[in-house]
Amino acid sequence: MTVAEPYRIKSVEPLRMSTRAEREAAIDRAGWNTFLLDSDDVYIDLLTDSGTNAMSDRQWSALMLGDEAYAGARSFYRMRDAVRETYGFEHMVPTHQGRGAEHLISKILIKEGQYVPGNMYFTTTRVHQELAGGTFVDIIIDEAHDSRAQHPFKGNVDLGKLEALIGQVGAANIAYVNIATTVNMAGGQPVSMANLRATSELCHRNGILLWCDATRAVENAYFIRQREEGYADTPVRAILREMMSHVDGVTMSAKKDALVNIGGFLAMRDESILQRARELVVVYEGMPTYGGLAGRDMDAIAQGLREMVDDDYIAHRIYQVRYLGERLLDAGVPIVEPIGGHAVFLDARRFLAHLDQELFPAQALAGHLYVDSGVRSMERGIVSAGRDPHTGANRKPALELVRLTIPRRVYTDRHLDVVAESVIGLHQHREDIRGLRMVYEPPTLRFFTARFEPL
Ligand code: F0G
Repeated sequence: MTVAEPYRIKSVEPLRMSTRAEREAAIDRAGWNTFLLDSDDVYIDLLTDSGTNAMSDRQWSALMLGDEAYAGARSFYRMRDAVRETYGFEHMVPTHQGRGAEHLISKILIKEGQYVPGNMYFTTTRVHQELAGGTFVDIIIDEAHDSRAQHPFKGNVDLGKLEALIGQVGAANIAYVNIATTVNMAGGQPVSMANLRATSELCHRNGILLWCDATRAVENAYFIRQREEGYADTPVRAILREMMSHVDGVTMSAKKDALVNIGGFLAMRDESILQRARELVVVYEGMPTYGGLAGRDMDAIAQGLREMVDDDYIAHRIYQVRYLGERLLDAGVPIVEPIGGHAVFLDARRFLAHLDQELFPAQALAGHLYVDSGVRSMERGIVSAGRDPHTGANRKPALELVRLTIPRRVYTDRHLDVVAESVIGLHQHREDIRGLRMVYEPPTLRFFTARFEPL
């Protein structure tokens, strides 16, 4: 059944079309890194769903209510109340975006030499854990590393892996467990409520805190509603509250679920963690009542937090991602299955089976997709995984992916048809695609600014 947009368009932003010759020049200027392309050179921008959302008329109106007082702004209290209402956490410290919150919690909870288990790494999350002296340990179920494995909750924690780690290093050497909902690097795959509950019990039985990356938790809640026994008639807002009842606090990038262009926060129940967060946030972000945000940003977030749990909104959001995924599957294009919550991920290993991972197949495919149709996507493979900080060797993730990320409320299904046609065309001529050579490699988070040349 068709699920149409539960909104209509009030304001439009013209897109610039380009020629193939212009795009060939642009990708060379960008060192074959889609992060280094100018927005003006992009037709359909599926680089990320982060901060690229369309705000509603109510959010734009909320901007005017922003209280720009340096301290104690009304906007802060409105955002705090919205966090209490939607997630159920008493305390909240705003940050400029998600990684600001990751920085704070890593500094607060990690002691040098401790381990931080999580259900697959995320780039910025792991970097902050490592900078704080921690070591990330992957405890996601094995199915998550296999793009073809059919599992309704591929983001689940493998409780056996977590238990084994606790047995091996001792609970005192685990800073906290970090559970992501949905799991970005696994293809936007959700965690089940049963798994969240069981992970929470295991952690708390061992005196370990369970923290959650709630960046896309609403999308996760919708998958629980669709796929987990007993939730079919539960409103998404209630599922989200139940999910959050199992964790001690969250880091949040409001640039995703919360339908804004900038912002984030750290939220928690424990007052002593709040105290530490308030001490640190003034050093790195700003006063505890604005944390790097303008008052108007906090008001836009407060309104976005209420819109994100609207059942019609989230049903369409997930439907639209599935629409693109199913068009590709029908044409035999290899993608990560099941289709995730925020993006369709092309499986570059199978798409470009003739290219070794050291030739950066996903990076090359993202470049060719751009040249073909002006569609900007993102590599999520060997370049994103970076190097092991101890050995210096390239990490070679099992998943070598190109992410086609769908911004919220921005593109129509017709845009996605253009994307699908371009991907399908490339797949038909995939043998023509050659690998890349890295010619500039920055020391951390290399995928953002690395440069490549075609072989
Ligand atoms: N956690 C997850 C799961 C994320 O996807 C991101 C950002 C962050 C934390 C960090 O938040 O960007 O606000 O500092 N993901 C973006 C993406 C960059 O494109 O997936 P941030």
